[in-house]
Amino acid sequence: MARLSVCISALLAGLSAAKYIVPGGRWRDTDGNLVNAHAGCVTVDKDTGKFWLFGEYKVEGQTEGGGVSVYSSDDLATWESHGLALAPIEGHPYISPSHIIQRPKVVYSKVSNEYHMWWHADNSTYGLLLQGFARSPNISGPYTFVSATAPLGNWSQDFGIFTDYKDGRSYALYSNGDSREGRDVYLTAYNEDVSALDKVIHRFDKYDLEAPTIVQTDKSYYAIMSHKTGYRPNNVVAFRADSLAGPWSQPFMVAPPNTRTFNSQSGFTLTIRGKKRTTYLYLGDQWDSNSLWESRYIWLPMEIDDRKKTLRLVWNDVYDLDVKTGEWSPVRGKTYYAADAKTAGNAFKQEANFASKGVIVTGIRGNDSTVTFEGIEGSGKPQWVSFYYQNTDDMGFGDQPGGTPDRIGGTWQLRRIASVVVNGNTEKVETLYQRDTHKGIILSTPLLLTLEKGKKNTITVGGLWNGFDYKGADLDRIVVYPPETDRKRR
Ligand SMILES: *[C@@H]1O[C@H](CO)[C@@H](O)[C@H](O)[C@H]1NC(C)=O
Ligand SMILES: *[C@@H]1O[C@H](CO)[C@@H](O)[C@H](O)[C@H]1NC(C)=O
Ligand SMILES: *[C@@H]1O[C@H](CO)[C@@H](O)[C@H](O)[C@H]1NC(C)=O
Ligand SMILES: *[C@@H]1O[C@H](CO)[C@@H](O)[C@H](O)[C@H]1NC(C)=O
Repeated sequence: MARLSVCISALLAGLSAAKYIVPGGRWRDTDGNLVNAHAGCVTVDKDTGKFWLFGEYKVEGQTEGGGVSVYSSDDLATWESHGLALAPIEGHPYISPSHIIQRPKVVYSKVSNEYHMWWHADNSTYGLLLQGFARSPNISGPYTFVSATAPLGNWSQDFGIFTDYKDGRSYALYSNGDSREGRDVYLTAYNEDVSALDKVIHRFDKYDLEAPTIVQTDKSYYAIMSHKTGYRPNNVVAFRADSLAGPWSQPFMVAPPNTRTFNSQSGFTLTIRGKKRTTYLYLGDQWDSNSLWESRYIWLPMEIDDRKKTLRLVWNDVYDLDVKTGEWSPVRGKTYYAADAKTAGNAFKQEANFASKGVIVTGIRGNDSTVTFEGIEGSGKPQWVSFYYQNTDDMGFGDQPGGTPDRIGGTWQLRRIASVVVNGNTEKVETLYQRDTHKGIILSTPLLLTLEKGKKNTITVGGLWNGFDYKGADLDRIVVYPPETDRKRR
């Protein structure tokens, strides 16, 4: 008996709490505010190994010029805000609140023993196309503006930095704008101090791509970029090479076609070289052009096979990443199908050969045409619930809101908004953004909900006003995940 309990406590001591990463969820920092660091990077502190997230700081009513925010984390899941690393300065020729301060990246310079920040520096009409440079002795900042320059005399728009782990050399990646003479992506080496550009290593000639980043394995480099469709996501592509100078492969898609890279845009990658394995993470942005300050983050593990020369993003609603060992594992949830749910009003079940059980619930609208999932098991604690949906707003007319992007002159709508009500409590209506998808493409989007302990919960989904209509997207199923606090790692 005594021996058994020793055994068990030794076992328990070896367990640590799970740390969930939930792509597309509303991520909150340790103060409860939305994590507000878009299109940035994660830099590892050279002394402590802490992760520092830098990104564009956006507030309601001001989409650009908010400066660069910074957060720190030990596990890539819990984020503490440290305010602005680079604050805009009123009247400044390059970093005033009316300037573009986009896609900031931070690297450590051995030569200066400082952290160097670079970004796409521009005026509000994208007429400058420069690269900004600021520095700080402290990773968290504040960073001091140094310059905004034209890279080797050329233009620079979407900006990225890559550091080769084998020799420590850093490289700038930048698209050179949308003009006919531009439309290339440059890969250019920095000097050893990472304070100026040295020489062009490769030009991705006339591919007209943006949001570039590179991930490096032991054998390969993969350059990942998106097409240019503004804030609307598209099918992100990657190129592979043995050496940065090339030859580079043909581009290939990194996610299932027409998922638009699980509704995200590329921008950065982070490699976790853990004690047990190396995990490559894709750090994408899920832009929300209706409310940019609420844009989300799509962080996903990448599966890379250097023998087959392939790279693909691995979707999981919720996964548990251990940054010490480098291991990650999907979190398993319980699925409830719309085919088995109860519809009300004009909501109905329609044949859909691409949906679960061949059926999808459509016609969800307002608060009387709803679908209710019953018999849901809950824990009494906050838990993530993923809603699998299809949003066919692209089936409308081209000249009307909700019109089709697949039609000449078509417009499109970013999202429908569903209402989510737990156990009939209409005092507490949760809002679920459901971005548009291609026809027949089912994607998921998560909400953190608190269900009652037991198996008798209901979740009712209706439609809220999105600026055009009260329609909710078509629903396929929901998946209820166990609370983070209930899951232990071995
Ligand atoms: C941005 O810079 C370009 C090039 O100098 C200039 O033509 C344009 O007027 C500037 N835009 C603004 C809003 O100042
Ligand atoms: C660096 O930043 C940390 C946290 O933001 C702060 O506590 C520390 O005093 C800073 N050090 C210097 C030298 O500015
Ligand atoms: C500037 O970019 C254009 C388009 O890629 C290219 O033709 C030109 O050679 C570049 N100039 C320099 C100095 O790199
Ligand atoms: C629900 O319906 C009532 C009555 O039609 C309406 O007043 C209310 O605004 C609706 N609420 C929502 C959330 O749509």
